[in-house]
Amino acid sequence: MVTEWHRRHGLFSCRYVVLNGFVEPESLIQEQIEYYRRRAPEYDRTSSPAPDDPLALTGTEIQQGLDSFKPSGDVLEIASGTGTWTRLLLQHASSVTALDPAPEMHQEARWKLGDDERVRYIEANIFTWEPDRSYDVVFFANWLSHVPRTLFDSFWTKVASALFRMGGCS
Ligand SMILES: C[S@@+](CC[C@H](N)C(=O)[O-])C[C@H]1O[C@@H](n2cnc3c(N)ncnc32)[C@H](O)[C@@H]1O
Repeated sequence: MVTEWHRRHGLFSCRYVVLNGFVEPESLIQEQIEYYRRRAPEYDRTSSPAPDDPLALTGTEIQQGLDSFKPSGDVLEIASGTGTWTRLLLQHASSVTALDPAPEMHQEARWKLGDDERVRYIEANIFTWEPDRSYDVVFFANWLSHVPRTLFDSFWTKVASALFRMGGCS
């Protein structure tokens, strides 16, 4: 998502391929991946909204949601980024599979989390990746706005398939 914030900081260049008035999803996905690969080293420093920005409340809300939900068991974290939420998930989870296509983001997370054997890093694009097992919880934050409209339904199908166990969902 290109917000006013991104434009203000000059952090996004629009090079999408537009066909018949629609952004071609493959191009959008690649652009997003490249964008976050470049941003990874400064992401934590520059992604925090100013205190008077309405977005500043979002982080607190996610944290409160996690504290109340207490995501236990094996958690799949989509678009895990620099590991900000991975660290909080680990307060409840037995394991976290941290999926992100940007190796630079995983590197930041490794520095933040150290060698924690409960974290499994998967370098993958969620739109082409297939769940390799079932999970107790699927978590993502600051991500849904990146899902192209045309892939929205299939994205949720993938989330459901990651949660599905023989005999039903848990
Ligand atoms: C706005 S950041 C959010 C990171 C983290 N969830 C957080 O809240 O700090 C978006 C993340 O989505 C990742 N991402 C971009 N395209 C992706 C894709 N196709 N599949 C999975 N993750 C993707 C980026 O590398 C980046 O880490």
